[in-house]
Amino acid sequence: MIDLSTEYLGIKLSNPLVPSSSPLTGELDSAMKLEDAGASALVLPSLFEEAIEYEQQQLERFVNSQSLGHYEALSYQPIPEEYSSELDRYLERIQQFKSALDIPVIASLNGISTSGWIETGKELQQAGADAIELNVYYIAGDPTISGEEVENRYLQLLADLRGHISLPVTMKLSSQFSCVANMVHKLERAGARGVSLFNRFYQPDIDLETLQIKPHLELSSSMESLLRIRWIALIRDRVDLSIAATGGFHHTEDIIKGLLAGADIIHLCSALMKNGPEHIAVLKRELQDWLEENEYSSVAQMKGSVSRSCAINPAALEHSNYMHIIKSYSL
Ligand SMILES: Cc1cc2nc3c(=O)[nH]c(=O)nc-3n(C[C@H](O)[C@H](O)[C@H](O)COP(=O)(O)O)c2cc1C
Repeated sequence: MIDLSTEYLGIKLSNPLVPSSSPLTGELDSAMKLEDAGASALVLPSLFEEAIEYEQQQLERFVNSQSLGHYEALSYQPIPEEYSSELDRYLERIQQFKSALDIPVIASLNGISTSGWIETGKELQQAGADAIELNVYYIAGDPTISGEEVENRYLQLLADLRGHISLPVTMKLSSQFSCVANMVHKLERAGARGVSLFNRFYQPDIDLETLQIKPHLELSSSMESLLRIRWIALIRDRVDLSIAATGGFHHTEDIIKGLLAGADIIHLCSALMKNGPEHIAVLKRELQDWLEENEYSSVAQMKGSVSRSCAINPAALEHSNYMHIIKSYSL
């Protein structure tokens, strides 16, 4: 029997297939289907900093307008006991998932400022989350902000959180750093237990009718996995933290390549949104078949075997290959 188990953020998982944040991981019904189909853990949809801030502003406005209208307002101000905030609902969801599922549940925080996250992190820990994924979705469009400042935001946020919670923290990163490998290394030193490579930025489009910029979300394609596979293969033996591959992992072949490059787990989102939660069972079976056919006894044995230090031609991961590739293209 092939051993599919893997270790991620210090947690032993039964296999490397982990649904990443998406609407599918936010509802208990679909989360249970994911677990039944073989998901070995899941990441909840993110708790967004701006959603919490917006809610607080609305609440303050509501309270203030009440107190302007009634001189005895304090006794009327209905911050009802049953009032449930975005954070309350998130914590309830963790508790509900933890009691209904056997697999680890990873909470996800999405934001760029450190202010609120320390308290929030402690509450996520108390609610029973097994780990926290920090998604710092930051578009550095201000030309006065340097790369170093951007990196320091990530590092500061991580260090603040790590100082107050004992849960493992993993960082979901974009590929848009000058030195991805160095950034991962710095995060490791700042206490990250893992990185998730790479976040997808959704590219807004321009509506030619209205000339407005319009948000645009398209599910990924398998081609996008190649960027992740390359970077994971490049850094696998240079860092000592867990690596999750996210972005473009649709087919069993993509998953196998991600593991060969050195990923500890493969996150799935678009593939499950397209094919439904049950699709994990197909991917898991095909992964198992491939390992068997290729005479591997475990995922651990194949993991990283085509990473930079083990690949037959590691130069192909780096620049030297560029010239040969463009010259080999024939019209
Ligand atoms: C509808 C939708 C909702 C998502 N919600 C979140 C989220 O709340 N937090 C997050 O970090 N990523 C979120 N993601 C990103 C996915 O977790 C994943 O990283 C990304 O889609 C790339 O993986 P894929 O190619 O398998 O789709 C979302 C993606 C989609 C399509």
